[in-house]
Amino acid sequence: MTLQDKFGRQITDLRVSVTDRCNFRCVYCRSADPENHLPNGDLLTWDELERLVRILVGLGIRKVRVTGGEPLARPGIEEFVARLARLGLRDLSMTTNGLALAGCCDRLVRAGLHRVNISLDSLDPGKFERITRTRALPQVLEGIRAAQASPLRPVKVNAVLVRGLNDDEVENFAEFARVHDLVMRFIEFMPLDADRHWTRNLVVPAAEVKRRIEARWPLVPLPHEPSETARKFRFADGRGEIGLIAPVSQPFCGFCSRIRITADGKLRTCLFSQEDHDLRHLLRNGASDEQIVAEIRSRVLEKEEGHRINEPDFVPPARTMVFIGG
Ligand code: 5AD
Ligand code: SF4
Repeated sequence: MTLQDKFGRQITDLRVSVTDRCNFRCVYCRSADPENHLPNGDLLTWDELERLVRILVGLGIRKVRVTGGEPLARPGIEEFVARLARLGLRDLSMTTNGLALAGCCDRLVRAGLHRVNISLDSLDPGKFERITRTRALPQVLEGIRAAQASPLRPVKVNAVLVRGLNDDEVENFAEFARVHDLVMRFIEFMPLDADRHWTRNLVVPAAEVKRRIEARWPLVPLPHEPSETARKFRFADGRGEIGLIAPVSQPFCGFCSRIRITADGKLRTCLFSQEDHDLRHLLRNGASDEQIVAEIRSRVLEKEEGHRINEPDFVPPARTMVFIGG
């Protein structure tokens, strides 16, 4: 029997975070203040992570995305990807900030990774620095080039738009997609930032992004799976693709097929869960696969109906993006 929640949603996608650490400090994600990292003993070991994923594959998980923090910042990530690849997934991808990608792209391909999503929030070095608090734009662009030159496909580039910060770059990003023949995805800023600066007027609605791009280059809608987060378009006159991800202005919770494992071994049934469900104590106290399956099934059954961002009494979760990954 596959994993299902009480609303009848089939759970087939897993995001697994392998570290809370990151070498960037994106303003929409991390605090400006010094960070406390999880002690190493709190992180699941590679063996523990693999066991959980194997159990979940037995329950019908077909797509796995490796995230962080920054997954490439944890030593041993390539071997872990190879172990996941042996589980025979339909889709095995990674979300990365791109910093270290150029140097390990070949190894990730050999490990059996299918594709990557690379974050890129500005094409302007100064603005890139203001957003990520690093000067790594050249390395990230190098990482995107390396992915493009590799068999990893499709290469998706993700920009979180924040009003007044990078919303003037929509057309530049669209042009970047056309020039480099890649998928450029625009993500609405969600209330998951560590410093709690999110406000509704910082969100750049997907409809606005579409209107602006279409004013320059006609777009043709592409078909998508119901559970896909992005509405996809190609350019009528050439290469490249656009994806619009609108969790705030057009929530897609009704079709959600995702669950998450945090780096410290908690099952998170929604990005906006108020509470995570600890699996690590089961892993470390001799629980059988059957006991872990029972725990996962009962927690998934109670998966949240939706994120409630647009409800008047919405409260952002205590554990923000730092712990969850993209
Ligand atoms: N809102 C939207 N997307 C976010 N990400 C991180 N924090 C947020 C947020 N507050 C995205 C990053 C990256 C992935 C790791 O998660 O852009 O694509
Ligand atoms: Fe790091 Fe990604 Fe968070 Fe940026 S959004 S700080 S790259 S984990």
